[in-house]
This record gives sequence, C-alpha cells and structure tokens, in this order.
Amino acid sequence: MKLLYEGKAKKVWEIDDERVLIEFKDDVTAFDGLKKDQYKGKGFLNKKVSDHFFEILENNGIKTHYIKSIDDRNFEAWKTTVLPLEVVVRNYTAGSFCRRYGVERGKKLSKPLVEFMIKSDELHDPLICEDSILLLNLVTEEDLKYIKETALKVNEILSGELSKANLILADFKLEFGKKADGEILLIDEITPDTCRFWDSETLESLDKDVYREDKADLLTTYEEVVRRLG
Ligand SMILES: Nc1ncnc2c1ncn2[C@@H]1O[C@H](COP(=O)(O)OP(=O)(O)O)[C@@H](O)[C@H]1O
Ligand SMILES: [Mg+2]
Repeated sequence: MKLLYEGKAKKVWEIDDERVLIEFKDDVTAFDGLKKDQYKGKGFLNKKVSDHFFEILENNGIKTHYIKSIDDRNFEAWKTTVLPLEVVVRNYTAGSFCRRYGVERGKKLSKPLVEFMIKSDELHDPLICEDSILLLNLVTEEDLKYIKETALKVNEILSGELSKANLILADFKLEFGKKADGEILLIDEITPDTCRFWDSETLESLDKDVYREDKADLLTTYEEVVRRLG
C-alpha cells in the first residue's frame, strides 16, 4: 500500500481511490511537537477509543469516515480531502482558552462554544473567526454551517455517552473532510489525544493533559478511559 501521509500520531495508507487505512502510532507529541515520546500500546488504546466513538456517532446519524476496524492498530475509512480547519467545541474552560483570556480551568460555560482554527502546522493553527473563514474561502458558507451544526450534535452525543462513564467532555477538536462525491464527513480520530475527559466528581484529567503537564502516567490514564467506556 502507498503511504499517503505520516503525521504525529497516525499514518494514512491508500487502499484504493475511495478508501484509506488509518494506522495509530505509539508516538505522542505536545506543544507543537516540542515534547515528544513513545508509549508502547498507546496506538492500540487510542484506536479502541476512537472506534468506539465513531460507531456511536454513526449509530446516531453523524456522517463519518469510519468504515470498519481492521486490527488492533488500523481502521478502514473513506478517503477525503481534508478541510483546512480544526473545529474545537468547549463545554468547560481549559487549555488555550484559559491562556488566551486569562481565566481559570474548570469553569462550566453557559453554553457550548464552537471555535475554529486554521489547520496549519506552519502557522501554528491560529484561531479564526467565521467571517474570515468565508473571506479566505477556506470553506463555503453552506459547508461552515453544516460543520458547526455537526460539531454541536457530536458534542451532545459524546457528552451524554461520557457522562454514563462518569466523565465530563470538557472540550475536543474535530476535523472534517470532503469525499470525492462532495459529501462532508467527520474524519481523523476521537481519542484522549484530541479530547479533554475529566472525572465528573474531581475534574481530574484523563487525557493528554496528563502528559503535557506531567500529571500522571499516559498509559495508565488511557487504560482507565478504556476501562470506563467498557
Ligand atoms: N479520512 C481521511 N482522509 C484523508 N486524510 C485524513 C482522513 N482522516 C484523517 N486524515 C488526516 O490524516 C492525518 C492523520 O495523522 P496525524 O498523525 O493526526 O497528523 P497530524 O500530525 O497532522 O495531526 C491528519 O492530517 C488528518 O487530517
Ligand atoms: Mg492529528
């Protein structure tokens, strides 16, 4: 198979014109790639969590790239042209939101907030407003509306699911891509690398923040997420 792309956490292999194989690596990075490590078994755990959420989203009517699991490290997905946006939904204050606005972690927002960043390692994923997205022709107005509505629906579905596991979905990042026929799909991964999961009672992190901030062992934490999701 042809390797189409190797990123920080995954490899994308071409199956045919329509489908790709997405492989989870054991690598973990933070702070724009400045901090970098490997945890044997991390790819396996993340793939398990991601499969679980994509299956739930598909069952709830969200169009995603997920086709099927192949093995412990790989899943099959629809090949898309990735839209140049990262979409962040926030329910609680955390991370860059706190740094940007000088607020403390762990405050519940009065309603979910959708933020957009340009997906560009070179530019360090800058925050962008909706008018600028349209002026720069990053996506069409219709696509932007669909993306925002879908992100909020994903938030509802995942938040509900996580609360059953005694977890809060504090915030998360989504990516979208366009299939050859023009359909927009939710792509990439849904894992503790891309979401903030907090214990419902203590607000303790069960996600990549344990690695970013050296708060706990990454593997033990990700295993706990898998355990709680059952
Ligand atoms: N279905 C898909 N079709 C095409 N590209 C995809 C698909 N799903 C994810 N991708 C892209 O593959 C890459 C996954 O590798 P990753 O390690 O997450 O990269 P990065 O270091 O850029 O975050 C991302 O750039 C993501 O946008
Ligand atoms: Mg990525």
